[in-house]
Amino acid sequence: MARPIIRVRCERLEQEVRPLAPIISIRNLAKTYDGGFEALKGVSLDIEEGEILALLGPNGAGKTTLISAVCGLVTPSGGTVTVGGHDIQGEFRAARELIGLVPQEITIEPFEKVINTVTFSRGLFGKRRDDAHIERVLRALSLWDKRHSRNKELSGGMKRRVLIAKALSHEPRVLFLDEPTAGVDVTLRKDMWRLVRDLRDQGTTIILTTHYIEEAEEMADRIGVIDHGRLLLVEEKAQLLHQLGRKELRLELCEPLERVPESLAAYGLTLSGEGYHLTYAFDAHADHTGMTRLLADIARAGLDLRDLSTRQSSLEDVFLKLVRDGREEVA
Ligand SMILES: Nc1ncnc2c1ncn2[C@@H]1O[C@H](COP(=O)(O)OP(=O)(O)O)[C@@H](O)[C@H]1O
Ligand SMILES: [Mg+2]
Repeated sequence: MARPIIRVRCERLEQEVRPLAPIISIRNLAKTYDGGFEALKGVSLDIEEGEILALLGPNGAGKTTLISAVCGLVTPSGGTVTVGGHDIQGEFRAARELIGLVPQEITIEPFEKVINTVTFSRGLFGKRRDDAHIERVLRALSLWDKRHSRNKELSGGMKRRVLIAKALSHEPRVLFLDEPTAGVDVTLRKDMWRLVRDLRDQGTTIILTTHYIEEAEEMADRIGVIDHGRLLLVEEKAQLLHQLGRKELRLELCEPLERVPESLAAYGLTLSGEGYHLTYAFDAHADHTGMTRLLADIARAGLDLRDLSTRQSSLEDVFLKLVRDGREEVA
C-alpha cells in the first residue's frame, strides 16, 4: 500500500525541480509598419504560465502592436515568438489555439445573441461543442441571465464581458486583455480586476495592457514598462516597488529660508513652498536613512519645525522616471 504514496512524492519532487518552460517566449520582436514607422524595436520577454503580467505604457508605446504580433494579427518584421513551444508563424494554428484575445475595440456582431456569439467563437477554433463549458464561462462573467439578449441590447461593461467570454470559449491557456478597462467606470473596473484574478486563480495566464498605473499596481504579479517600442524593464511588482521605492520626508518650517543652510548641504535637500518646505529623499529600505542625523543637524542649524510628514513614492513616480530616463537616452 505504501508504494503509490512514494511514487506520488517522487513525481511532486520532479515537478518542483524541473524548471518550467515559459508559456510565451518573445525574442527580438520588431515591427515596422508600412510607411516606415518602427512600433517595436526588438522586444524580448518570457511569460510564465499562471502569472498576471501587465504591460504598462503611454498611448502609442507599442502595446497593441506587441499583443497583435503574438496573436498573429500583425506580421512581425523580425524576431520570433513561441506560444506553448509553437512558433507563431510556422505553427500558427497550434499557437493561436492556446490564446484568447480581448481586443481594445469592442467588436461584436450587434444583432447576434450572447450565447451564439460565444458558442460560434468556440467553433471557429475547431473545438467540439461543449455547452457545459459555455455555461460555466457565461456564469463566471455574470452573463448567464443575459444569454438570450442581443449584443446591442447590452451595456458597455456587459459587451466587454461578452468579448471576454468569447475569448475564453475555446479554453485558451493564455488570455490577452488589451486595455480592458479603458473608458470603464470605477465600479466596473474593480469588477474586472476581480474577474481577472479569478481567472488567474483557475490557471489562466493573463497578459493585460494598460496605461493606468493604478491598474498595473493593483493587479499584476509582474510589470513590464514599454515606451517607444522598447521594453524598458520587466520586474516582479513587489520587487519593482521595493528596488525603486524611495521615501520623502517633508519638513515644514516656522520661518522661511532663502537657501538651504551650508551645514545641511550634504543631505541634498530641496527647498520649496516659498522657503517653508524642505524635502529630504531617502531609501526606505536602507539600514540607515540618515533621518536622525538630519533632524539633529536641523536643530543645530537653529531651524524650528512646524510639521513633518513622509511620503512613499508610488509606481507612478517609478514609471514617470523610467519613461523620462528612456526618452533622455534616446534623445
Ligand atoms: N497599422 C498601422 N500603421 C502605421 N502605424 C501604426 C499602425 N498601428 C499602429 N501604428 C503606430 O504604432 C505606434 C504604436 O501603436 P500601438 O501599438 O497601437 O500603441 P499602444 O497600444 O501602446 O497605444 C503608434 O505610434 C501608432 O500610431
Ligand atoms: Mg493600444
